[in-house]
Amino acid sequence: MTPTARILKEITPRPWEVADYVRQGGYEAWQSCVTKWTREEVIAELKRAGLRGRGGAGFPTGVKWEKVLNHRIPEHYFVCNAGEHEPGTFKDRYLLKQSPHQLLEGSLIAARTVNAKSAFIYVNHEYVEELTNLRKAAEQARAKGFMGKNIFGTGLDLEIEFIEGQGSYVAGEETAMLESMQGRPAMPRQKPPFYPTDFGLYGKPTLVNNVETLCNVPPLLRNGAAWFTQVGTEKSPGTMFFSISGAVNRPGVYELPMGTPIRRLVYDCGEGIPNGRKPKAVFPGGPSFAMLTEDQLDTPMDFETLKKAGTGLGSAGVIVVDETTCMVATALKYANFFKVESCGQCPPCRMGTINLAAVLQKIEDGEGTEKDLASLMQLCGFVKGRGYCTVVTGAAVVVQSSLEKFRHEFDAHIAEKRCPSHPERVAVAGGVA
Ligand SMILES: Cc1cc2nc3c(=O)[nH]c(=O)nc-3n(C[C@H](O)[C@H](O)[C@H](O)COP(=O)(O)O)c2cc1C
Repeated sequence: MTPTARILKEITPRPWEVADYVRQGGYEAWQSCVTKWTREEVIAELKRAGLRGRGGAGFPTGVKWEKVLNHRIPEHYFVCNAGEHEPGTFKDRYLLKQSPHQLLEGSLIAARTVNAKSAFIYVNHEYVEELTNLRKAAEQARAKGFMGKNIFGTGLDLEIEFIEGQGSYVAGEETAMLESMQGRPAMPRQKPPFYPTDFGLYGKPTLVNNVETLCNVPPLLRNGAAWFTQVGTEKSPGTMFFSISGAVNRPGVYELPMGTPIRRLVYDCGEGIPNGRKPKAVFPGGPSFAMLTEDQLDTPMDFETLKKAGTGLGSAGVIVVDETTCMVATALKYANFFKVESCGQCPPCRMGTINLAAVLQKIEDGEGTEKDLASLMQLCGFVKGRGYCTVVTGAAVVVQSSLEKFRHEFDAHIAEKRCPSHPERVAVAGGVA
């Protein structure tokens, strides 16, 4: 299966070259926004297209832009969230590297449409090459009069500033990102107020959008909403950039229509599981959403269907687990991730992630009891939905879904007093030999 190339048309060896991007129709939509269309017309087209955010929540993009534009407080900001730090998600990195002009164009359109006083792109500090490409692209765009001073000779001035992010998972949560931009630790704000559209950077209405969301904007406006909705599903139109990793022969980023079944991504794009093994589980939305099992591989990947299946699309970081992998060890691996990445600000997350990891470690080491399983489930129920952000909920969901789908593996660890996948590791008093 050939991935669809609708949003990212052509990959060039020097992606910062503005001439190559212009040849592909680049900056045409931006020019129309500045010289032809009203802000309201731009927003109406996004709403007609039904574009939804690609950063995790799937919020309707046009609605968000409209909220900021029409906010009673007149001082607005725009921030592109390129903080990407979730295990298994690397599609924004690909877009930043391969199509920096597309992101600049989408960001310029967004910032101007919501009447932003200042515009920023917040980039994961580990993305060194990507940031370099972005800076080189910006220099060329400025030289062409696409950004900076007197854009298209109209007298409009609009600059984009690049911010190196704090490099933690939580720093990608939009309110934590805004806190860190204000020189404070990257910790999510206590809600309410719920959204940066009401209380964002410096407490002012702020539009925050993901890299992929913004990369969708120039081709969508250039070709129109009817073109955009030709692929995808009714409620999740367009394509999605799926990152696939774990037990697959060809991990990578693939642009596919929303609603593509998981099986096609795993077998046609990812070329199946190494050594002809079977898949045991797939996390369709990264480690913060429940896993699906082999019998669910024909599930279409879009916001609604995955929600109905008890999981979520998130930012489409698809992780494949093969039949040889221990699910207690898998749950433990993610629990440890959440424990390390918790910012420690709110007690449910600080204590919850530590305790989840500790109990799972005990079971994996062959020292667990039935009582530990009960306390694991109780703990999950207690912390879910209780944090300032969704980190602790993600941790609980993974544990709950592994218990629900692979309870027999937990039971085997307890009965055999060891990990059946690692028979060489036997519990001894005080640790594991
Ligand atoms: C723990 C956590 C980490 C997140 N990391 C990112 C991220 O790296 N990039 C991103 O765009 N959104 C991330 N999000 C979602 C953002 O808070 C926000 O919803 C998104 O940037 C909005 O953009 P969109 O409407 O274009 O999807 C994260 C959310 C949470 C709870």
